[in-house]
This record gives sequence, structure tokens and C-alpha cells, in this order.
Amino acid sequence: MSLAGNRVLLIISGGIAAYKALELVRLLRGQGSGVTCVLTDNGSQFVTPLSLQALSESKVYTDLFSLTDESEMGHIQLSRSADLLVVAPATANILAKMAAGLADDLASTVLLATDKPVLVAPAMNVRMWLHPATQANITTLQQRGVRVVQPTEGAMACNEFGPGRLAEPPDILAAIEALLNPAPGPLSGRHALVTSGPTHEPIDPVRYIANRSSGRQGHAIAAALAELGARVTLVSGPVTIADPPDVTVRPVETARQMLDACRSALPADVAVFAAAVADWRVDHASATKIKKQPGAAPPALTLLPNPDILATIAAAGPDRPRLVIGFAAETDDLMANARAKLTRKNADWIVANDVSPETGIMGGAENVVHIVSAAGIEAWPRLTKNDVARRLARRIAEALA
Ligand code: CTP
Repeated sequence: MSLAGNRVLLIISGGIAAYKALELVRLLRGQGSGVTCVLTDNGSQFVTPLSLQALSESKVYTDLFSLTDESEMGHIQLSRSADLLVVAPATANILAKMAAGLADDLASTVLLATDKPVLVAPAMNVRMWLHPATQANITTLQQRGVRVVQPTEGAMACNEFGPGRLAEPPDILAAIEALLNPAPGPLSGRHALVTSGPTHEPIDPVRYIANRSSGRQGHAIAAALAELGARVTLVSGPVTIADPPDVTVRPVETARQMLDACRSALPADVAVFAAAVADWRVDHASATKIKKQPGAAPPALTLLPNPDILATIAAAGPDRPRLVIGFAAETDDLMANARAKLTRKNADWIVANDVSPETGIMGGAENVVHIVSAAGIEAWPRLTKNDVARRLARRIAEALA
């Protein structure tokens, strides 16, 4: 595969593995990619600007406040001049700075200022890699769309053994190629609509009715569909989790807003309704905060039914997505309720899950689901919500193929 015409900005931070960056530059040049190097102060203890410059055949940037560099190419322009930013090796320190949004040298400033995809290849002592702080930083970065080439396991320069060694340059090159020339996924050219999270139905400006939902399962499904190449529109109620990478998010509050956003996202090839939509809304929500009056009875709320978004979009018509998938979150009679929902809402599949409090599924990281369709019932093992999402995305790709 050729990288001709591509330009990579390679950031080299400190660490004994920095010497492998020289090999990576050589491999990238061999594929025809342009390479511009940014070397941190610590990185320059391990490799010299001169050797990087010779291999990259380009100027090497080292100092944030160099006036010549600023007049030639400011750090903002530098951060956007490449198709991809690669940090290899990425130390625990630079990962922490990226996660925290620090910009105290050229490398971290460029990383904060960029609007381009970022790939990191961590390398550090095994204890530093396994430390909860580093793992939390990696999770944060991944949630923001940063790609990670996982470190490998082996003997380290510090005489310890375990994960933390920089991935080999050919493996980092393969990850770069996959990002710059992605192979078309099985869902490329397809549009997927996903709902996720709860809805909030206002009572007054400070109070609302809501359903329990973290949005984790719906967001994971949106991410998994995007990973398989689909263009994804995620209509999400209020959640505290990060937007999934490579997905267009349409934030909404109420069920009626969610329905409007879904309608305007059509046409779609597949629609997955994972949102926990509030079934009722308050008739005439108060425009001002409802005050307690001493001795007076609490206000009586009149509830109106909300539209059923799944049933509306699944109703037969020219705009009906080819595949419509709903969820059934139940505390009893799971299968009977799921089957009834399949028919009543005109869905093609229902993903049924038991959300009794003792299962820990609501808000948790795992899920146990059954796929209910006209063809029958399929039981899936206990999986993380991410794995349920990936498996569902693969099944969707097969069904649409
Ligand atoms: N759903 C929807 N719009 C609603 C209610 C539910 O789109 N107003 C969707 C959910 O996203 C889910 C499916 O319908 O995919 C089933 O949701 P659930 O809350 O289990 O079903 P309800 O229809 O609300 O039935 P009940 O509350 O009686 O169990």
C-alpha cells in the first residue's frame, strides 16, 4: 500500500524507544509519505534532530518559542499541515498532558491545536503503563477519538518484564496505513440512525421526568456501526458520556425533539432505537419555577403520552429503513414482552434485556441480551456493552449485505 501524497507529523517524546522513531521515519519515507518531525526536549536526549532531519529530508521542529520557526510555520499551522499526527514513542507524561489539555511545549501545543486524527504508540515502564492514572488517560484519549497502537509485552530496558514496549515500527506503519487509507468496511455507503440515552420531559425550568439510562449501549452501537464504515447519525438525549468517534451527534432533550431529529435524519438503511424514551410528558410544562405554597397541596401533574419513536419510524412507508431494531428493557416476562413489542412496533429485531436491579445492567458495563425476530430467539452470552455493540453491528452488516 502506498502513502504517496500523505504527510505525517511525527512527535517523538522521551524514552529509550525513541531510537525506533528513526526506523519509522525510514519506513514512512519508503511508502512515499512526507514526514515532519517534532522532537520534545526529553526526546532529544535519545535521538538527535540531525539524524531525524537526514532521514525525513525535512526541517525538524523542537522549540515552541523559536522565532524563525514561528515566521516560517506557526505551531497552529504545523498542527494542521499534516494528514495525521503520530506520537511515537508516547511517554506516560505526554499522554497525561494530552488527556489534561496541557500545552507547555511545542509537542503538546501542536497536539492541543490540531484538528487532524491522532495516533499514539505508548512506550514506558510496565508499572507506569499499568498505573490507573495512565490507563484512565488512555481511556479518555480513546473516547475522544485518539487511536492507540498498544504497547507489546517483553523484556524492558529497565530489567522488568511486561506490557510497555513500543510496538514495532512495521506495526505502527500498518496502523498509520489503516488510518490514512481505510479499507472500505462492510457498512460503507450505508446510513445508520441510532437513538441513545434518556429523554428529559420538563415539568418547569428546573424539574423534569426522565428514564434511567446512561446511553452506554446506544453510544457503543453507534461507534461499532461507524467502525464498520457506516455513516452514523446518533440522536442522543442528555448523557454524561463522551460522543463516539466518527459519528454525527444530534443532541436532544425531549421525546418529541428526538422524533423530529430522527425524521430529519431519514432516509437510513438501518435504525437502532436504544434510547430510553420517557413514555409520558407533562401537559403544559410551567414556564416559571413552580413554588411550594405553605399548606397547599402538591401540584397535580397531568401527563400526556409521548410519541413512540420506534413505532413511528418503523411504520410501513417509503422512508422506512430496511432494518429496524428496537430494544426491550424488561423486569419480567422478558421473552413474551419482547415478542409483543416486535409485533406491536413493526420492528424487524428486538434486542431484549433483563434490567431487574439485581442484574446490574442498567448503568453497568455489561449486558445479557436475546435477539428476538420473526426467525426466532437467539441467546447471546454475557458480554460487555461494547462487545454486544460490535456483534450487533456485524449482524446488521450481514443482514444488509
Ligand atoms: N421507544 C421509542 N419511543 C417511545 C418508547 C419506546 O422509540 N416513546 C423504543 C425504545 O427505544 C425501545 C423500544 O421502543 O427500542 C421499547 O422500549 P420500552 O421502554 O421497553 O417499551 P415501551 O414501548 O415503553 O413499553 P413498556 O414501557 O410498556 O414496557
